[in-house]
Amino acid sequence: MPRFKAPHIPSFEITPKSVYLRRRDILGLAAGGLAMAAAPQAFAAPLTAKPTDYKVPDELTPKESVTTYNNFYEFGTDKSDPAANAGKFKPEPWTVKVDGLVGKPQTFGLEDLIKAIPVEERIYRMRCVEAWSMVIPWDGMPLASLLSLVEPTSAAKYVAFESVVRPEEMPGQSGSFQPLPWPYVEGLRLDEAMNPLTLLAVGLYGETLPNQNGAPIRLVTPWKYGFKGIKSIVRITLTDKQPPSTWNIANASEYGFYANVNPEVDHPRWSQASERRIGTGGFFGTKRVDTLPFNGYGEQVASLYKGMDLRANF
Ligand code: MTE
Repeated sequence: MPRFKAPHIPSFEITPKSVYLRRRDILGLAAGGLAMAAAPQAFAAPLTAKPTDYKVPDELTPKESVTTYNNFYEFGTDKSDPAANAGKFKPEPWTVKVDGLVGKPQTFGLEDLIKAIPVEERIYRMRCVEAWSMVIPWDGMPLASLLSLVEPTSAAKYVAFESVVRPEEMPGQSGSFQPLPWPYVEGLRLDEAMNPLTLLAVGLYGETLPNQNGAPIRLVTPWKYGFKGIKSIVRITLTDKQPPSTWNIANASEYGFYANVNPEVDHPRWSQASERRIGTGGFFGTKRVDTLPFNGYGEQVASLYKGMDLRANF
């Protein structure tokens, strides 16, 4: 076969059908080869991640559920909106600016970051404040590793995060109904940010992060409610003041800064004692499981909150 003359094979015959269909879904296209070439970064690529002991014995949530049942209001408020509407979003090229109270402020290209800090696989539970949950194999890097590169000063007490603003690619930022103020922002105390559990995810299920899950880089704090896991991060700022957080701005009586998973402190409108484990129980329902304090990660994080009133600091 001539070396440089590719036989004419439709792409769906070379690419496994499931992958091809998924790319097509993500791109939100009928089947345009040309359009796919114009946005090659919009579909998942394999990621090499080192296995770790960060695992849970729970059954994994199927990838299909992880990537189609989402909260990402920049793309709409229904659970199916992000997968349906995120096809136009371009997560490449990408930079993350890290600034504020640090010795070495820097703007990192995502590729360079992935080269500088080894990507690990971490299987974490994720508990949404809406009382559903998943078990997700993330690929990512400890936030502590990134922070050590910029050398926080002794004045730094908190870490503030900011998501991207791109109304031209994000229908939830451009429509007549704006569900939240933009950019989506979040924050952690510095010791929470430095905890070994705190991850910057760049992939899941061994592939680059799908747009709807927060491509190309999002926060994962498995002992906190899912809304702390800010997606598509463009800026990380070290500060001496508690940073604002989007859901707290939207409704301070219902969503606190800490947002630690706590079965004993109910949401004002529903119980937090148990959760629906998405993707379990077949077609007719999902299994309900008891919610654990700190989502089962108390051994690693409870000491961060010693002496604090967890009802007042919800
Ligand atoms: N980040 C941004 N930028 N915008 C959002 O709407 N939703 C949050 C969080 N991060 C959100 C976000 C909420 S409420 C949850 S539960 C998780 O993302 C959902 O992550 P998933 O869709 O990957 O499961």
